[in-house]
Amino acid sequence: MSERVRELIDKLAAERCLSREEWLSVFDGYDGDDRAYAAEKARQTSLKVFGNKIYIRGIVEFSNVCKNDCLYCGIRRSNSSAVRYRLTDDEILSCCDEGYEYGFRTFVLQSGEDHAAYPPERIAGIVRRIKQAHPDCAVTLSLGEMEREDYALLREAGADRYLLRHETASREHYERLHPSEMSFDHRMKCLEDLKELGFQTGAGIMVGSPFQTNECLAEDMLFFTGFRPEMIGIGPFLPHKDTPFRDQPKGSYELTLMMLSLCRLLLPGVLLPATTALGTIRPDGREQGVLAGANVIMPNLSPTAVRKKYMLYDGKICTEDSSDACRSCIQARMKRIGYEVTVARGDHFYD
Ligand code: 5AD
Ligand code: FES
Repeated sequence: MSERVRELIDKLAAERCLSREEWLSVFDGYDGDDRAYAAEKARQTSLKVFGNKIYIRGIVEFSNVCKNDCLYCGIRRSNSSAVRYRLTDDEILSCCDEGYEYGFRTFVLQSGEDHAAYPPERIAGIVRRIKQAHPDCAVTLSLGEMEREDYALLREAGADRYLLRHETASREHYERLHPSEMSFDHRMKCLEDLKELGFQTGAGIMVGSPFQTNECLAEDMLFFTGFRPEMIGIGPFLPHKDTPFRDQPKGSYELTLMMLSLCRLLLPGVLLPATTALGTIRPDGREQGVLAGANVIMPNLSPTAVRKKYMLYDGKICTEDSSDACRSCIQARMKRIGYEVTVARGDHFYD
């Protein structure tokens, strides 16, 4: 146990801000006891803001075609072993209809960057159809980088939220995770545009991505402090066998939990999922994520027939299960740790 780290965790909880040097002291100096200390504080914060309620979002992975070539990702365009698929508008709508029956009131449409097949106008049409069929639901998009006017069109069509992990707030690190045709500045510009357009905006990182240092993590925490995302997606990096990072070690489970706790303390009202990657690295990872301060779970709503094809990393859970099974599974898992799944839309409300 480190006296200094505890002081800093207390300071973070009180002031919701640490300096770069202080963040570095936390990442360089924390041990298991400090992590438990942060988790307990984060969990209490979460309970104070959200009670023991966990929001669920149904995620529809509607295309695994991607024009990008991120070095970590299993659906990168260079992976010729990936079997590609695209869902039709009707198929996407059916997934949402099914999800509605299970109590989902947020639908997350996610895909590779497949803007050629799904231009903004087509996505806008899908969003309008979902909103028409289910006016009480939120629509979240996770489609990667677009131009501001495209995001504006999607917002006008009724999309409420947008997830776009920044992946790392260090430019140097960003350039080691992505091919040279991808730009750190453009990604950051996208996040700014999304926020300005009134989307509840999600940023985030993979913990333990190759070349990540504690300096990178400090930079990520400073970015969150300034940008104040409404949502933060954090999971461990997990290698995929058909990527250049196939032999890289997976990210640390414990550090992922620590990051979740620190994010909760930094932004008490942030919507913070216990991610599928966290459930993949440990069978009870999502439960432990909730106990460390997470308050959202995003079960899969994709047709079981395509799930195995949306493999961002090896070993992804839930690829054999039906939407119904995942929904019940999550309910049972939450109940076992004293939490309750709520069917509320779960908008960002608390600062
Ligand atoms: N391991 C963990 N997470 C990954 N993602 C992509 N590839 C991997 C991987 N190998 C994450 C990225 C992306 C999100 C959709 O999935 O952070 O933004
Ligand atoms: Fe999919 Fe448990 S959440 S099987």
